Amino acid sequence: MSPLYSACGIILLALTLSHHFRNHTSLAHTHTLFLTYGLTYQTSLLTHRLTFTSCALNTKHILCTAFTDFDSSPLRKPLFTPITPHGIFTLDGLAWKRSREQLRARLSNLRRTIDLSLCEEHFRAFLKHVPPDGGVFDAQRVVFALSLDLQTRFSLGESVDALGEMQSEEQRRFLGDLARVKERIVRDGFRGPLRHFEGKGAFWRACARVRGFVVERVRRDIEGRRSGGVGDGVGVPEEEINQSADQALSILLANDSMSTTLSGILYCLAKDERVVTKLRDSIVDSIGLEPPTWAQLGGLQYVRWVIQEAMRLYPPVVLNARVANKMTTLPTGGISSTKNNTNTTDSQNIPILIHPNEIVVFSTWSLHRLDPSFGPDPESFYPERWETRNPESMPGYIPFNKGPRSCPGQHYATIILTYLVTRMFQTFSTVTDYNAGPWRERISMTFENADGVLVGLS
Ligand code: HEM
Repeated sequence: MSPLYSACGIILLALTLSHHFRNHTSLAHTHTLFLTYGLTYQTSLLTHRLTFTSCALNTKHILCTAFTDFDSSPLRKPLFTPITPHGIFTLDGLAWKRSREQLRARLSNLRRTIDLSLCEEHFRAFLKHVPPDGGVFDAQRVVFALSLDLQTRFSLGESVDALGEMQSEEQRRFLGDLARVKERIVRDGFRGPLRHFEGKGAFWRACARVRGFVVERVRRDIEGRRSGGVGDGVGVPEEEINQSADQALSILLANDSMSTTLSGILYCLAKDERVVTKLRDSIVDSIGLEPPTWAQLGGLQYVRWVIQEAMRLYPPVVLNARVANKMTTLPTGGISSTKNNTNTTDSQNIPILIHPNEIVVFSTWSLHRLDPSFGPDPESFYPERWETRNPESMPGYIPFNKGPRSCPGQHYATIILTYLVTRMFQTFSTVTDYNAGPWRERISMTFENADGVLVGLS
């Protein structure tokens, strides 16, 4: 096969992906193909083959059973290197393991890491952006700023004050640059090789400014801790500063997941008065109107179900991909040579051969709707479905992924989300829906409604 033929295949594939990304139809397109061809299908453009799956067995295989057969870095490294050259998103193998260990140290002992009084401070800043008497506001924009404030406090030791009125010019510029960097990384991810046709000067400059801002704060934070907060803690090696900056940037890049979840919760609640009433009653009956304590957070069962259900319907990471690093297989979804090729269902249990360097895309969005383990009416928002289901033991439920590379911020995120949702519904008892149409996908670093999430809280 000539290299030119192969290159044309890659470019045609990139054009198709890029077309759906631009038209906000990536999810609808892949979902329709799952409904037409089965939970796992392959598409081929000239020589280039892509496998798509929304099958729990195959996803579990990629993320857990055959974890070492698949890499992330071939897809992510070229995109993330300008901003985090050694960040966890760009790594695989031993280097990834080391980076993961460092993050684990940072995200363990959450009682020490999370200061609930700071969460309360940020929640009160959020309240200032909620118009009185149930007036409309774009909750997606406001919770995005709220999670940025929380995440910068966590990763940089100081909040960028995205919700505040006292934001400095430097902070404003940092947030603008960070948004531009993320937007370009995601767009380039969908464009594949076509990304090389657009100049990168502005992107690189924005990356350098974002990194400079983070390095400065990380240095100050480390030096402050070394000197016990009294004077100059000199002599921190540059390597250590750069490593911590990569870590802080990776956490910041993962930030948007929190805001997608909060937006998804408010969007679903705006359409379901029954759940809003039950949610508020469940909170007030068990802990009253005072901010929750650490001990109380774990007992707010209905809050947990609401969060889990919103993450099922609006998972922050909707599409994901891995690249095979050797000849390997997926356990099911292949086509038997003795069967009619148009009647492909994964129930045939025929493995699929995956060649080295082939990409497998898995759709969490579709998996969360098509996997039978969620019970009847999977399109509807029904928190009670979690009464008889345990998210830990369901291979089809993967908002945080599963296996060695699952989200290391899962427990941190769950605590913060539980705190914020509890405070919101101690404060408000009605969510008014001002959204004119259905959720229109916009895939950014995570997942958004292209039209915003327009609600009123009273
Ligand atoms: C609702 C909130 C969140 C959701 C749904 C979520 C989801 C995910 C998912 C699906 C991945 C796997 C991506 C992949 O390998 O392809 C991931 C990775 C990651 N998440 Fe989260 N995340 C959330 C919040 C957070 C928070 C708050 C932090 C940090 C404090 C965080 C830090 C990370 C990091 C560093 C990785 C990369 C892990 C690795 O590559 O080993 N996440 N997250």
